[in-house]
Amino acid sequence: MVSYKELGLVNTREMFAKAIKGGYAIPAFNFNNMEQLQAIIKASAETKSPVILQVSKGARNYANQTLLRYMAQGAVEYAKELGWEHPQICLHLDHGDSFELCKSCVDFGFSSVMIDASHLPYEENIALTKKVVDYAHQYDVTVEAELGVLAGVEDEVSSAVSHYTKPEEVVDFATRTGCDSLAISIGTSHGAYKFTPEQCTRDPKTGKLVPPPLAFDVLDAIMEQLPGFPIVLHGSSSVPQEYVDMINSTGGKLPDAVGIPEEQLRKAAKSAVCKINIDSDSRLAFTAAVRKVFAEKPGEFDPRKYCGPARDLMEELYKHKIINVLGSNGKAE
Ligand code: G3H
Ligand code: 13P
Ligand code: ZN
Repeated sequence: MVSYKELGLVNTREMFAKAIKGGYAIPAFNFNNMEQLQAIIKASAETKSPVILQVSKGARNYANQTLLRYMAQGAVEYAKELGWEHPQICLHLDHGDSFELCKSCVDFGFSSVMIDASHLPYEENIALTKKVVDYAHQYDVTVEAELGVLAGVEDEVSSAVSHYTKPEEVVDFATRTGCDSLAISIGTSHGAYKFTPEQCTRDPKTGKLVPPPLAFDVLDAIMEQLPGFPIVLHGSSSVPQEYVDMINSTGGKLPDAVGIPEEQLRKAAKSAVCKINIDSDSRLAFTAAVRKVFAEKPGEFDPRKYCGPARDLMEELYKHKIINVLGSNGKAE
């Protein structure tokens, strides 16, 4: 058993309380590799932003859970080396799908876990979530739960259709499970194809897809039921067109990729939404930068020469999200 407190990590409780009060959101960035982690920590340290490092089940399988844990521990030291005196870094399991997985992360030094039982019938979701909460709270590890189902297709996280969270269920769910935050479904989804072209309109000038707005009425109704309760948005990449264009113009194929417009995320961040999950945008930045190097220098074969530019572009992306979208800069001085 390793306590996250010994590793210099923090849970989400105080982060979220401050974010709701201050009208901003904490960035939750997924990582699988060293370059992503370096970019996240540099961006957070330079902007003095609290940050949640997210590890999915797929990331654990890809990178090895022991290595990831030590990377997160190293990240705290790296942040201090960069001059961030009091780093506010949370290590979070993203989309945990079983009690055993959540328990293993709690035991392994994670400061926060998500139990995603949103695909189960309501009572089963409550029972499994409560079991995880009861275990995690013994160690002061915070728990994110999910109610409602996101649409979208991704490796470990997939669903063909979305079901918005029902506001009439949230009080019962939060009270009976004791969860610390609630991920909701209001129209976001995972991946780089958040909407089909049929669900969008087209900008007559550019021909680009314009996605439908998020269901802010559902969010408002949830906040009315659970005043001041931390709300989480998954699937919140905005799929920047410049990265999609860089990829497509260098031989890639991402036709009609579309995300959540940043002004909608800005609006959400000012509400009780205090954690915004971003993974796909970082994948796009990485891929765009690597493709550009290969297109311009086909003879390049030193991974540092293409992973370096990928890391720089991801850092730029993370800083942009922190400063211009979530507003978390300067909140962890
Ligand atoms: O929400 C899921 C995250 O984007 C992680 O995706 O399961 O492919 O690692 P992954
Ligand atoms: P995106 O695919 O929109 O980046 O969402 C990531 C996410 O929700 C991780 O849990
Ligand atoms: Zn997610």
